[in-house]
Amino acid sequence: MSGDDRREYDGYARLGLDRSGQAEAFDAIGDRYDEAFPHKEGQLAAGEWLASSLPPGSRILDVGCGTGLPTARQLAEAGHKVVGSDLSPGMLALARTNVPDAEFHLGDLADLRDGRLGREFDGIAAFFTLLMLPRPEIPHALHMLHALLRPGGLLALSMVEADVDDFSIPFLGNTIRVSGYLRDDLRDVVTQAGFEIAGENSLAYAPASTDVPPEIQIFLNLRRA
Ligand SMILES: C[S@@+](CC[C@H](N)C(=O)[O-])C[C@H]1O[C@@H](n2cnc3c(N)ncnc32)[C@H](O)[C@@H]1O
Repeated sequence: MSGDDRREYDGYARLGLDRSGQAEAFDAIGDRYDEAFPHKEGQLAAGEWLASSLPPGSRILDVGCGTGLPTARQLAEAGHKVVGSDLSPGMLALARTNVPDAEFHLGDLADLRDGRLGREFDGIAAFFTLLMLPRPEIPHALHMLHALLRPGGLLALSMVEADVDDFSIPFLGNTIRVSGYLRDDLRDVVTQAGFEIAGENSLAYAPASTDVPPEIQIFLNLRRA
């Protein structure tokens, strides 16, 4: 991250990041998350792009890694060095059990901007994580991920297509706040953060639980320009 970008995110964060209830919801959801979202063909395909585009032994950050399934495990099984991070202690406990070969850290993704988990990552996975942020924060988070990658490094990003900002939804017996973009706007936001779009896939996804509505998932395969 250039000094200017870091200062911008610092300035935004000083206004106060409201994460209230987000980690608690995921602590309560635990492994019901994986039961509600089975058959993750889109995520597995995007993870496979990331895993196979990098030489084995590459350093990959899985930001908002959740239970570690399927992505941290997929990347570790492909021979990569996986660093996972998440705001929810409950999700991280599951991830540590599910993927003993990866390393996991508790924390807010916004705090990664100081390089505490390292820089010059070869790849980053951010599957359905940035949608947990208020929309004005998402460009800052993308700039930060850009800065945490080495030049030419890869970002596998997924979001749910929706024109909403910090919108409360019922989610598996809890309430979470989510944000999203329509796909053209999402393309603009990632491009403005300095990424080239190397691939894109979108699909309709029906969760196994009626507690979560059907959604359109967008997967972008991105390269640090
Ligand atoms: C929808 S889940 C996706 C989990 C995983 N990436 C996957 O695709 O299976 C979102 C995850 O982001 C985590 N999260 C939410 N806000 C976060 C934040 N500010 N910093 C880090 N992790 C966060 C949640 O605890 C949760 O595990």
